[in-house]
Amino acid sequence: MTFHFISVDQASDTLKKGHLVALPTETVYGLAATAHDEQAILKIYQLKKRPSFNPLIFHVSDQKMAETLGVFSPEAKLLAKTFWPGPLTLVVPICQHIPFSTGLATAGLSTLAIRMPQHPLMQQVIQKVGAPLVAPSANLSGYLSATRAQDVLKGLAPENMPPIVDGGTCERGLESTILDTTHTPVRLLRYGAVPTESIANILHYTPQSIDAPTAIKAPGQLKSHYAPSLPVRMNATTCEKDEAFLGFGSVSFSQWNLSPSGHLEEAACAFFPLMHQLDQPQKYKGIAVAPIPLSGLGYALNDRLTRACSPRTK
Ligand code: TXA
Ligand code: MG
Repeated sequence: MTFHFISVDQASDTLKKGHLVALPTETVYGLAATAHDEQAILKIYQLKKRPSFNPLIFHVSDQKMAETLGVFSPEAKLLAKTFWPGPLTLVVPICQHIPFSTGLATAGLSTLAIRMPQHPLMQQVIQKVGAPLVAPSANLSGYLSATRAQDVLKGLAPENMPPIVDGGTCERGLESTILDTTHTPVRLLRYGAVPTESIANILHYTPQSIDAPTAIKAPGQLKSHYAPSLPVRMNATTCEKDEAFLGFGSVSFSQWNLSPSGHLEEAACAFFPLMHQLDQPQKYKGIAVAPIPLSGLGYALNDRLTRACSPRTK
């Protein structure tokens, strides 16, 4: 099958017919299906080669739609009110009255992850479909996420390529932050595009990060993830022979720099495009990345790099 780019109207028709579509969000491109279509959801897992124990995020257009899926505690409501639409995912208990089976998308958990994306094209597609969309990042499981349509094309097998709505480069560039609101106090399951400091300002405490790859609470937080095909070396202050060097601020030995001025927002946006660009095994033997400070979005960037450095399990 050859790939093609489609409009918002075509995307909603395609989804309603039970097919997958790659859609832009403000974080990364998502590989979407309608949440009630188990056949289509099965195709997501197959196409991404994603382990079936790793659940998907439900994307909604408004709070009313969110509350048809999950039960919001007062803290979850406050977080949704503050950060939605935007790059925050909330894990909540599944609502008793969902009129369709959620087992496949939630990997059988009694909780479900929800977010209301900010990207206008994604918003329009959800509204036109009139139902929640499940969407993991539009890349093969374990590999680099895609923040441009061209990287979706590079990352998925051509014979399985879904049609794509091209929304240009994703503004935030890193996946959503995931919070578990079923636990008191709220816990951080994934560092992401909303910095922990902003969440702490609203909750009046800093949610503790549980970094447990095997814990059922965050089955997707696999040790090796977000990895290019080349080995990655982080906190690099030298550049070895045949390495591609990705600088940050003044630490720079090449023309590639996440943010010459040392801005973390700029670095977040540049991260996946530059990693895709440098992932050239025929040219380099590895990618070395300069140290990135541990503050704000630096936590999410260092988290992605740590996982990119971990040896693959397969
Ligand atoms: O920014 C994003 O979140 C992007 C865009 C497309 O929305 N999506 C994304 O999806 O990053 P994905 O599938 O790559 O990551 C979803 C994460 C996984 O780590 C998964 O384990 C976790 O969400 N997750 C989903 N449901 C969960 C649940 N009930 N409890 C805990 N973690 C859950
Ligand atoms: Mg992903």
